Formats: sequence, structure tokens, C-alpha cells
Amino acid sequence: MATAPLPRVNPADAGARAWAGRALEAAGLCALGEATELLAARAPDGVLLGVAGLERYGGDGLLRSLVVAPAARRSGTGAALVAAVEQRAAALGLGALYLLTESAMAFFAARGYERVPRESVPAAVRGSEQFRLHCPASAVCLRKYL
Ligand SMILES: CC(C)(COP(=O)(O)OP(=O)(O)OC[C@H]1O[C@@H](n2cnc3c(N)ncnc32)[C@H](O)[C@@H]1OP(=O)(O)O)[C@@H](O)C(=O)NCCC(=O)NCCS
Repeated sequence: MATAPLPRVNPADAGARAWAGRALEAAGLCALGEATELLAARAPDGVLLGVAGLERYGGDGLLRSLVVAPAARRSGTGAALVAAVEQRAAALGLGALYLLTESAMAFFAARGYERVPRESVPAAVRGSEQFRLHCPASAVCLRKYL
């Protein structure tokens, strides 16, 4: 039921990074890393709706820090952010995107992500701060080839 106009997704500015810090904390997700390239979705009037992050590890990417403002959910913003991260990753020549999630498996499965064992994840991605420090063993690992 996407009745709202589609958001515009662009690289995040300092204001959007600060917004992301608050939104991630409120959603119970870990803070941005220094290496996180962040994209921000805004409504046509400029209001921030959500963010998503990409980290590059060799020829692969880590999709992380996806969060949409609670009042803006279920209107296509999350899907637009994931599509924008995939587009950016493909433009960088990355072969696959990996992510860890505890709560959004169905959302990502509907966008072509498949569950994979952590051991199958490239060592460089597994060495990322998010894999090493932030996500509990219960988090599911997903992959999508680009
Ligand atoms: C997960 C999240 C980013 C989805 O954002 P959103 O803007 O609501 O997603 P969209 O509106 O683009 O949804 C696209 C589709 O996914 C569905 N969907 C949305 N959230 C879903 C969820 N948690 N589980 C299953 N399906 C979901 C929508 O119904 C919609 O389906 P449709 O295309 O058939 O209409 C958002 O709920 C959120 O910020 N959650 C808290 C943080 C979080 O869990 N982030 C992921 C960490 S990896």
C-alpha cells in the first residue's frame, strides 16, 4: 500500500548521519562505523525518512544500518534504500552483498536475499566490526549476488 510519493535517496550529509545515530539506537541497532558509507532517503519536502549503510570488503559488500523512521514504515522507503545500496555496490563492482539481521529476514528474502551459514561468508566480511562485535549468534546471515 505504497501511497506516499517515492523517496529520494542520496549520500547522507552530516545531518543525516546524526539522525541515523538516533534512529539506529531507537531501533536497537548498533552505531554506524567510520567505514560505513551512508545513503539517506528523504521525502520530497526534505524530511528524513530512513538510512542504509554500505561497507566494502574486497570484492564484496556489507549492507548494514538500515532503518526507517517508525511513522514512515510500510511505504516503500526500506525497499528504495536497499535498491539504492545494491545499485551503489554494483557500481563499485562488488560481487555480493552480505548482511546480518535478527528481525527483517522476510523483508530481505522478498528482495532476493538468501540465508547462508556464517562460515561461508568471505573472511574479509567476517572480519568487519559488525560481524565480530555487534551481532549476536542468533542473527541470521543473508547474501545476495549482484
Ligand atoms: C525493516 C525496515 C527497514 C523496512 O522498512 P519499510 O520502509 O517499512 O519497508 P517497505 O515499506 O519498503 O516494505 C517493502 C515490503 O516489505 C514488507 N515489509 C516491511 N517490513 C517488513 C518486515 N519487517 N518483515 C516482512 N516484510 C516487511 C512491506 O510490507 C512491503 O511489502 P510489499 O512490497 O509487498 O508491499 C523497517 O521496518 C525498519 O526500520 N525496521 C527496524 C530496523 C530494522 O529491523 N532494520 C533491519 C536491520 S538489518
